[in-house]
Amino acid sequence: MTPAWTPPASGVIRGCWQLARGHGAGWDRGAAFAALDRVAERPGPLVLDCADIYTGVERLVGDWMAARPAHARKTVVHTKFVPDLESLATLDRACVRRVVERSRERLRVETLDLVQLHWWDLGVPGWVRAAQWLAELRDEGVMRHVGVTNFGGRALCALLDAGVPVVTNQVQFSLLDRRPLKGLAQTCRDRGVSLLCYGTLAGGLLGDRAGGSGTDNRSLRKYRLIVDEVGGAKVLERARAELAAVAARARGSMAEAAAAYVLGQPPVGAVIVGLSRRGPDLLDISRVRLRPADVARLQAAVPDTVAGGVYDVERDRTGPHGRIMQYDLNRGVQRA
Ligand SMILES: NC(=O)c1ccc[n+]([C@@H]2O[C@H](COP(=O)([O-])OP(=O)(O)OC[C@H]3O[C@@H](n4cnc5c(N)ncnc54)[C@H](OP(=O)(O)O)[C@@H]3O)[C@@H](O)[C@H]2O)c1
Repeated sequence: MTPAWTPPASGVIRGCWQLARGHGAGWDRGAAFAALDRVAERPGPLVLDCADIYTGVERLVGDWMAARPAHARKTVVHTKFVPDLESLATLDRACVRRVVERSRERLRVETLDLVQLHWWDLGVPGWVRAAQWLAELRDEGVMRHVGVTNFGGRALCALLDAGVPVVTNQVQFSLLDRRPLKGLAQTCRDRGVSLLCYGTLAGGLLGDRAGGSGTDNRSLRKYRLIVDEVGGAKVLERARAELAAVAARARGSMAEAAAAYVLGQPPVGAVIVGLSRRGPDLLDISRVRLRPADVARLQAAVPDTVAGGVYDVERDRTGPHGRIMQYDLNRGVQRA
């Protein structure tokens, strides 16, 4: 029997890609600890989203939890298993164990909470087997739950039909990118899988500071391409104006309204909001209640024109979305 996965009561997971070397200008350890302290000081449990390929991040979060035992007690960490593109065809059980054990060692936890499988090319067989190996590690107690990231409905069903106890699917979902509503959300509802959603603020483009963070980083590069898909700067401007109006009506911030829009779509279990370099970084979605008219107004502002289902345009490695990905950040460990 699969233990139930419970979404965070706040509806918010804090994303740690922003702390990775290579994401942007880079955060020193002090700035990273300060950002983690800020979110930990908010009431209630803290859930963090990491990945084996976010360079330096699992170890940093492990160090932070060791240095802050009181914060660590209220913190749950999700991570990912992202085998390199070139190793997909030859991935074996020992490699899966090695990478997952490395996450456990870096985070300094006895049991990982959630490990999410990403597979760069679903045309390369092996992903069902890899997920089954993760499930074996779950049965051994190495992790509590198995999740996936960037899986469309068909591939997700293939895993579930093969007996893999997938509890979550982490996908991009925002006012700008509504691909999950094209079928995946219904599939997840039918099969009891929660969606965990990134990109809800489009790297800050939908946040309260116009122009995003002002510095270039990999999130902004990714989401500017999504803005292109829906019509460019004019549409972004319109989306921001509507968000500002809805936020004012609902007495929240634009970031809260953008996150509440996504969180309000079942079966979204949580939004994953990247850590902010700049405090204060308030995100209390519970105080923002969107009405059906708000949702209609927001959706009317942005055409639903990102092609295909979740992660389809990203899987085209020759296209603009695929060309900006880094496919080999696990180099080394998979050849060991
Ligand atoms: N599975 C995948 O393929 C995948 C892909 C991408 C991301 N992710 C996960 O999702 C997380 C979220 O990252 P993302 O790239 O999608 O970015 P995001 O959550 O859409 O944007 C986060 C950024 O928005 C800005 N921001 C503006 N107003 C804010 C406010 N009021 N409160 C908080 N932040 C505000 C912050 O930048 P400032 O520093 O300017 O404040 C923050 O870094 C990542 O850390 C990662 O864990 C997963």
